[in-house]
Amino acid sequence: MSGQDDASFPAPPPSAPDLARMIRVDHAGEYGAVRIYAGQRAVLGRGPKGPLLAHMAEQERQHLASFSDLLVRRRVRPTALLPLWNVAGFALGAATAALGERVAMACTVAVEEAIDAHYAGQEAALGNSEAEVATLIARCRAEELEHRDIGRANEAERAPAYRLLSAAIKTGCRVAIALSERL
Ligand SMILES: [Fe+2]
Ligand SMILES: [Fe+2]
Repeated sequence: MSGQDDASFPAPPPSAPDLARMIRVDHAGEYGAVRIYAGQRAVLGRGPKGPLLAHMAEQERQHLASFSDLLVRRRVRPTALLPLWNVAGFALGAATAALGERVAMACTVAVEEAIDAHYAGQEAALGNSEAEVATLIARCRAEELEHRDIGRANEAERAPAYRLLSAAIKTGCRVAIALSERL
């Protein structure tokens, strides 16, 4: 988390520990995303939103595969919290889906907005360094924005208590990110 705030200077390349934390948290996040969509598909997979959920789940599977590969090649240890994200991700997806399609889509919008902000911060921190990592982040980020737009197009914002739900899920995402960087 070092760096100059002066925007007229390019950010220095991240230190090795900072880069490892980035890869660790992104791997954890994509793992969580896979589990969220698995939970949603367990409830809504056979319904009208099934194909959309399958499309997003497949993209998350590819994001996770890419970060898993990067994690191994860069010799970064995964977060110790994967068992927690396994359960918590699935539970979040299944619980929101059980409350209805709009709530499931509201969950998607909230998660993807939080992840977009997270990836944007990482892109800024990387600057022109670590092209391989930056390219992967940019690819994932573009598809997270596609997921957010799918959620909005499928009436996420008409879910009951949308703002409260969205704020709660985003807070949860930020806590999960902070924990996965450190543990
Ligand atoms: Fe993703
Ligand atoms: Fe996503």
